[in-house]
Amino acid sequence: MAAITLTVNNKQYKIDVDPQMPLLWAIRDFVGLKGTKFGCGMAQCGACTVLMDGNPVRSCSTPVTAAANKKISTIEGLSDNLEHPVQQAWIEFQVPQCGYCQSGQIMTAVAFLKKNPNPTEEQIDAAMQGNLCRCGTYPRIRKAVKRAAELMKAKPF
Ligand code: FES
Ligand code: FES
Repeated sequence: MAAITLTVNNKQYKIDVDPQMPLLWAIRDFVGLKGTKFGCGMAQCGACTVLMDGNPVRSCSTPVTAAANKKISTIEGLSDNLEHPVQQAWIEFQVPQCGYCQSGQIMTAVAFLKKNPNPTEEQIDAAMQGNLCRCGTYPRIRKAVKRAAELMKAKPF
């Protein structure tokens, strides 16, 4: 077992875990934030995406020790009242169907828009292609990412 301090959404959590435990389980079971989902468990689907120092990572296949001394952001940390531009755009276009993949989609979009605030549709598709959606919400995701970029330009978050 290893004593690890995780910083999640700007709050510190001291946990005692198997150092090989995937970050996903530390976030869900030790930190208690359930918005990040388990999909494939093999870094293939993106459902478990969180940000580590601003970069998207697959938390199902990231050992918890790799997250020590890093800033982890999950869907719960985006905003208090769904006012993050990506959340606003997701609501405007009613993106989710079953919703299972959506926190991973949103976290990927947040990281992407930070790097590319003015994306083309092709760039959006390329950035989001690693996040799978069994419900096929891809057209709405594309529109919502575009809209979020506009919202961010109008009012930086
Ligand atoms: S659950 Fe992590 S990529 Fe699928
Ligand atoms: S909304 Fe159902 S899997 Fe994406």
